Amino acid sequence: MSGLSACLFDLDGVIVDTAKYHFVAWRQIAHELGFEFTEQNNERLKGVSRMRSLEILLEVGGLALDTATKVALAEKKNALYLSYVMQMTPTEVLPGAVDFLKNCRQSGYKTALATASRNAAVIIELLKIAPLFDVVVDGNRVTHTKPDPEVFLTCASDLGVSPTACVVFEDAEAGIEAAHVGGMLAIGIGSPANLAKADLVVPGLSKISVEQLRAAWDNKKSTVAKP
Ligand code: BG6
Ligand code: MG
Repeated sequence: MSGLSACLFDLDGVIVDTAKYHFVAWRQIAHELGFEFTEQNNERLKGVSRMRSLEILLEVGGLALDTATKVALAEKKNALYLSYVMQMTPTEVLPGAVDFLKNCRQSGYKTALATASRNAAVIIELLKIAPLFDVVVDGNRVTHTKPDPEVFLTCASDLGVSPTACVVFEDAEAGIEAAHVGGMLAIGIGSPANLAKADLVVPGLSKISVEQLRAAWDNKKSTVAKP
């Protein structure tokens, strides 16, 4: 395993809590289609692409729709979602995220945003955090979504570092799996119960320091080095 060179961050649930906006927008679509969509159902949409999210929603409602209707519904949901997102201000960046990103950069690590969202550019502009990332790879650039490692491998390639020199910060199980498939260290953001496969789990970026990150890295390195 190489030395640590880059920190890759998921957006939704790691840098900002947009899940609540995705939820109200999807719930409104479900109501229009005549069924209920709960917060528990919404858990299944975390880290999943917009179209796959719609498919899961339709599964919950027991509906099968044609492609043209699905495309129109996904567009309608996105317009609703953006109407909430456009109201966001930098106060909605999750606690500790800005400081941790700055500390990573000051420690010499490159930073990247790695997300399935196709709205990432507008969100990081609104939150005024775009300058904190060397590279942004979003849902407009990747074909395969997590647990496929494409988004993380594209970040590593754009940054010019080996995938094995990257650490990923993720709140979704699919993202932890994607990081591991890509040969990267995976730090879970959230509860250990949902992120059992992560190399380390912390409740948020306010609860991890660069020193703890280095310790997790060294720990993993020694595990990998064992025969
Ligand atoms: C992910 C979210 O980051 O982006 C998912 O966790 C969401 O819930 C996905 O479906 C796609 O987002 P968008 O903004 O392109 O609809
Ligand atoms: Mg996420």
